[in-house]
Amino acid sequence: MDMKKIIARHIAEAAKSSFEGCAMQTQDVAAMLEIPPEKKLGDYALPCFKLSKTLRKAPPAIASALAEHIACEEIERVQVVGGYLNVFLNRGQLAKGIVEAVLSQPGRWGSSSEGVGKTVCLDYSSINIAKRFHIGHLSTTMIGHSLRRIYDFCGYKTVSINHLGDWGTQFGKMICAYKKWGNREQVEAGGVQAMVDLYVRFHQEAEKDPALEDEGRAWFKRIEDGDEEAMSIFTWFKEVTLKDTQRVYDMLGVTFDSYAGESFYNDKMEPVVRELREKGLLTKSQGAEVVMLDEYGMPPAIVLRSDGATLYITRDLAAAFYRHHTYHFDKCLYVVAYQQNLHFKQLFKILELMGHEWYQNMEHVSFGMVSYEGRALSTREGYVVYLEDLLNRAVEKAREIIEEKSPNLPNKDEVARQVGVGAVVYFDLHNDRNKDIDFRWERALNFDGETGPYVQYTHARCCSVLRKAAHLSAKPDYSAVTDDEASDVLMLLSRFPETVSKAMEQSEPSLITRHTTQLAQAYNKYYFEHRIVEESDPAGTAARLALTSAVRDVIRTGLYLIGVEAPERM
Ligand code: ARG
Repeated sequence: MDMKKIIARHIAEAAKSSFEGCAMQTQDVAAMLEIPPEKKLGDYALPCFKLSKTLRKAPPAIASALAEHIACEEIERVQVVGGYLNVFLNRGQLAKGIVEAVLSQPGRWGSSSEGVGKTVCLDYSSINIAKRFHIGHLSTTMIGHSLRRIYDFCGYKTVSINHLGDWGTQFGKMICAYKKWGNREQVEAGGVQAMVDLYVRFHQEAEKDPALEDEGRAWFKRIEDGDEEAMSIFTWFKEVTLKDTQRVYDMLGVTFDSYAGESFYNDKMEPVVRELREKGLLTKSQGAEVVMLDEYGMPPAIVLRSDGATLYITRDLAAAFYRHHTYHFDKCLYVVAYQQNLHFKQLFKILELMGHEWYQNMEHVSFGMVSYEGRALSTREGYVVYLEDLLNRAVEKAREIIEEKSPNLPNKDEVARQVGVGAVVYFDLHNDRNKDIDFRWERALNFDGETGPYVQYTHARCCSVLRKAAHLSAKPDYSAVTDDEASDVLMLLSRFPETVSKAMEQSEPSLITRHTTQLAQAYNKYYFEHRIVEESDPAGTAARLALTSAVRDVIRTGLYLIGVEAPERM
């Protein structure tokens, strides 16, 4: 039910009958088709001047020839204006086709089987142990989660991976601090924050007493050696962190298939280093072993430090091999902030130099920074916003709004959670991912702007219209939904599948966010200008209800794909 394609096919056929030897293909025409700025110029337009060179004719002559040869039930009429062929769709036919196609597969409009038999690994969220989850982690978590849903929707098998930051000398220091000044109850009660406090204390004390640094290192050595006491504290730190973080994941509905993080690769780096050495890619540099990348305009990547310790990139190399031979991925995505651009360029380049062609299937999905109410976050200046606090505040605020607007709503708490969390997630996934985001309450929670609550509200509106009309049944007459407002809605419904596949191709969930918003806006415009239920016109009513039902379904799907819930009442 891709209208553009259907129209393109008819035009391509018309071109074959109009111009001898013309080899124009459907996809060529589809790529040329434009959407006119005004409805009175048709639903689609073909700018024929793009064809005049190959066809050796003036654009208006081409348009006229095509106009003469085009005939199909999807097109009501065509019009030649200057060098343009304007196409007016048979809207009744179009409406029936689209609405029925959407309703024939509830919740699946836009899905595909493109990925059947293929696997995608998605590395996202990838939190650090003993660090608190702040709003800087929202984008990686939600872009990754959304991409996972999009890939699932397109038939892929997905593996979601939380590549935990659970290795490094800081954990030795933390254990050292814990042994000196901490206790079990305090950490159980305080969670990650208690660990952060211990770490801060360690640094304060170490300034006065530098010998502490050695103690910290010694504890880390004990973790490395698998010493029982060190390991049990370390493992417990991890559990506490994951338990804390789980509350946030539960609120967001985010889940993972694997938590294999940096420490998981402790025993898996040796073969990689050996291969690098055998392939002559390692160079000694001040005791360290590095891969030289200056030929490619990059600084050297340190693989082994002079004391033999491995690094972040060493672990990522091991992880790449592990994922390759465990999951046989067709794609492996890393949803990580743009600050790590160089890291991933180095990583992929090293795999290429090693001769592993599958490096081409890896992609760094980068994104911009988040600031809060106009100010950049900075741990050093103490300006941090924790994700859990932000989400809780959002839920509280949503609750206040609901209390004011719909005091009689059943399950207000549940709806407040869906709306509050939805507002934050929507805000995060609304703009191109590489743009920086400035989180602002009045823009996230506004029920009127381009916001999560606005789209959710439109969905609830559709639900309400359908609930009230549930007793009606008649055979729809789709000629009742051929007005301009309805046809805007229909266009957006018909183009939704294209947007889903683009979002996947470009790893850009915001395309779906914006498409879904446009659909909500178009439906609201329709809703305000037309009566849906007209007692005197059951067949027209049925068509308008069917349209409403299709909109409800696609909004819900769009929100689902960006990880936002769609309450039925608000
Ligand atoms: N834990 C890292 C950080 O917070 C992100 C890890 C991303 N994934 C990876 N495979 N390197 O910066």
